[in-house]
Amino acid sequence: PVKVSKICCIGAGYVGGPTCAVIALKCPHIQVTIVDLNQARIDAWNSPDFNVPIYEPGLVDVIRGCRGRNLFFSTDVDKAIQEADLIFVSVNTPTKKSGVGAGFAADLHYVESATRRIAAVATSSKIVVEKSTVPCRTAESMRTILEANSKPGCRFDLLSNPEFLAEGTAINDLFAPDRVLIGSLQTQEGKDACASLTEVYANWVPRERILTVGLWSSELTKLAANAMLAQRISSVNALSAICEATGANIEEVANAVGFDSRIGPKFLRASVGFGGSCFQKDILNLVYLSESLHLPEVAAYWRQVVEMNEYQKARFSKTVVDTLFNTITGKHIAVLGFAFKADTGDTRESAAITLIRDFLSERAYVTIYDPKVEEAQIWQDLQEACPTTPLDSIKKYVTIVHSALEACKQKEAIVIATEWKEFKEINWQTVYDQMTKPAFVFDGRMILDVVQLKKIGFTVKVIGRGDRL
Ligand code: NAI
Repeated sequence: PVKVSKICCIGAGYVGGPTCAVIALKCPHIQVTIVDLNQARIDAWNSPDFNVPIYEPGLVDVIRGCRGRNLFFSTDVDKAIQEADLIFVSVNTPTKKSGVGAGFAADLHYVESATRRIAAVATSSKIVVEKSTVPCRTAESMRTILEANSKPGCRFDLLSNPEFLAEGTAINDLFAPDRVLIGSLQTQEGKDACASLTEVYANWVPRERILTVGLWSSELTKLAANAMLAQRISSVNALSAICEATGANIEEVANAVGFDSRIGPKFLRASVGFGGSCFQKDILNLVYLSESLHLPEVAAYWRQVVEMNEYQKARFSKTVVDTLFNTITGKHIAVLGFAFKADTGDTRESAAITLIRDFLSERAYVTIYDPKVEEAQIWQDLQEACPTTPLDSIKKYVTIVHSALEACKQKEAIVIATEWKEFKEINWQTVYDQMTKPAFVFDGRMILDVVQLKKIGFTVKVIGRGDRL
């Protein structure tokens, strides 16, 4: 097996950035270059004051630890490819917006163009590692492209090494992963390439946590893991609807269910719905794959996980309207949180976007506060969510502010859309004093102290809690 001394990572996003920065930190003997076509993103990674382009707890410390030592960020994709022995392809794979499989299939053109670039510029043999989440058998297409375009004397070995980090806890997840999964062809060359990558991870990951499997198993495992995680959320959200209708309490139910060691306590939190760039996209990928394999029942089964999530968001919006005396037209609502979950600035598929779109369609006024999301990002997301409304008209109804207290002032209702810790620590008495009465709070994340809020005078609605307490 080749001993890896230079790594290139194509794609400096939420996955490529943290993942390869941690490799650099843990493997001082390996030179790691992370490249991207996006100059602004690379400039941010290189910024002298470590103003890196993504918010992730602990990330800046990792970058400080090795940037300029054995970690480099660059837009010179070709040079980094040429120098590397091992190349991670960590580009985005969004859901296709048009053409065959639109709305379901993964758009693989970024993966393909990165692969073609590798084939075009490589002058020596490379191990190419598929890090992006891709449908089953994408590695095969990559291999075909590489082999069809390789120069004499250059061989390419393909590995699948999906990433299981969760945004918000990425650095901890990378430092101590539950497992690292490496898929390869079961040929001698495939096994050798797998051994080379295993040696990189073995610098800090215990060997028993490095699983080696076939290429297709590895690709399918990533889709399966996300589908099963999302399925737990949709299951608990489906139960939360029953709780609200009966007076049961989803926290009590989920807690008691999770005590069963066969089920376990994690990922059993009801909420306004899951978001993030991955769950929906990857399940739709699985649905598309199942349909292409003529397995319509399997497709329908997984599709329901996404449908339940849409239902949960719609149900929450409806609760807000119903509770505010069946109309929110002209009313003022504060939405606390815009990121898809706490401890990230990422807003992709955030439930907050859907809620705000629903409120705007009722012509309510919305004031938004999020501690980490940039204002420009919020405007972009709202414009995408309301494509037929000019941004100027959206801006007449939406205000973005810089503190929770400011957001809540003189509002009729407060909606918690993201579980930021600071929302628990708000001075709720002050908020109450400055609100229009009756004052409503809708906790879409089950983070607030309901008893205390009720004592202050709020009317509180929590996901998964009936009124008949
Ligand atoms: P991202 O959009 O943050 O980053 C992708 C980067 O690739 C962008 O900066 C883009 O400019 C760059 N890029 C695209 N084509 C390129 C090319 N040909 N050459 C050079 N750079 C190019 O995406 P993110 O979130 O990092 O996701 C990457 C992959 O990892 C996706 O397949 C995703 O499904 C998967 N994944 C994401 C996780 C997450 O939490 N965000 C977790 C696990 C996997």
